[in-house]
Amino acid sequence: MTSRIKEDIEAIGKIGKDQRGGNSRPALSPEDIEARLYLIERMREAGLEVYVDDAANIIGVRKGRLKEPYVSTGSHVDTVMNGGIFDGVLGVVGGLETMRQLNEDRVETKFPMVLVVFTDEEGNSFMPFVGSKYFAGEISNELSDLKGKYELISFKDALERFLRRVEGKVKKIGRFPYALRNHVELHVEQGPILYQRKVQIGVVTGIVGVQRAWVEFTGRQAHAGSTPMDMRSDPMISAAKTIEKVREIAIQMDMVGTVGFVEVSPNVINVIPGKVRIGVDLRSLSKEDMKKAISSVVSYALESSSPEGVKVDVTEFFEEPVLCSPRVVEEVKRSSEEAGFSYMELPSRAVHDSQVMAKVTDVGMIFVPSRDGVSHAPEEWTEWEDCDRGQETLKRTLLSLQS
Ligand code: HGY
Ligand code: MN
Ligand code: MN
Repeated sequence: MTSRIKEDIEAIGKIGKDQRGGNSRPALSPEDIEARLYLIERMREAGLEVYVDDAANIIGVRKGRLKEPYVSTGSHVDTVMNGGIFDGVLGVVGGLETMRQLNEDRVETKFPMVLVVFTDEEGNSFMPFVGSKYFAGEISNELSDLKGKYELISFKDALERFLRRVEGKVKKIGRFPYALRNHVELHVEQGPILYQRKVQIGVVTGIVGVQRAWVEFTGRQAHAGSTPMDMRSDPMISAAKTIEKVREIAIQMDMVGTVGFVEVSPNVINVIPGKVRIGVDLRSLSKEDMKKAISSVVSYALESSSPEGVKVDVTEFFEEPVLCSPRVVEEVKRSSEEAGFSYMELPSRAVHDSQVMAKVTDVGMIFVPSRDGVSHAPEEWTEWEDCDRGQETLKRTLLSLQS
């Protein structure tokens, strides 16, 4: 058992290795497509009927006695740039291993089961949660407006590039047409709680929301030597002040706030930049607090830019915090207990496809420890035994949710 999960995670982890020792597999990039092809083969070997929808979600179906509703599981295999090998992949591989074990044990279920590999959970290619938002029916035509962030490709072209590689291996559908009973996602915690407390399984009670803003500061590009200090319109100054303010506001409001993206144009030492674009990411379990915080950040950006003669444009992205379903929470606890694993309740401080799926079905999540709480970094690590315990808990939970 262990060896199959390890083998799959290691095999996928070799795809999209970057020069800094991490994994860079933005959704529908050539590297992500390689990982998807690997999974499609494994899903077919496991006897699943494999479909791909208009959002490039990979959907593996295991039949039940009834036609619907489905018991669902899944996660993602796209990574952040320079990420680790477990984020998302464990949930997909854990779901796949569960299907294999059910087949080997000749388990016939009343409700059919589905394993979904969601597209662009990380949003490093097009937009966070493209796949789950489409699966849940939250977006449709919006897909045609999506443009790549790192690779300048339209979503339509990226989808076609993927479909060309899987022709004959999968069935193409528009959107998964059946109802779900629930959705359960296995994931690494990505934070320090389970690891520090030496607890094997995290029973997730709720998932934080995320409020992002792309703030673009536009000034006047000019010569760094010959332009007097009082004749500049320098967007770097307003961006730098705003970056510092994000941390101040996050601390004040008891949330987390990050600026992990800065794009300077033209990014040259002897040129006053013409444009600086920053990405602000705020997380909290309170929607109201995130809304207040982002409005303070934007007001501050405007205030600090006006004396510089710098123009500010803001594009926002928001995803709601959600509570997990009490029934799923109970079943995850019971499954951990019956398997003899230690467990504790905790909220997810990272965002996940499950919070989007919560709009159409009951959701729950199972966490396993992340060494030193590190994730979104090449050092991300989870012990193989913990991966196994997570998968065993997932299998038991999915089976208990059959009744
Ligand atoms: O950004 C996140 O929290 C997640 O890992 N996508
Ligand atoms: Mn992630
Ligand atoms: Mn993830």
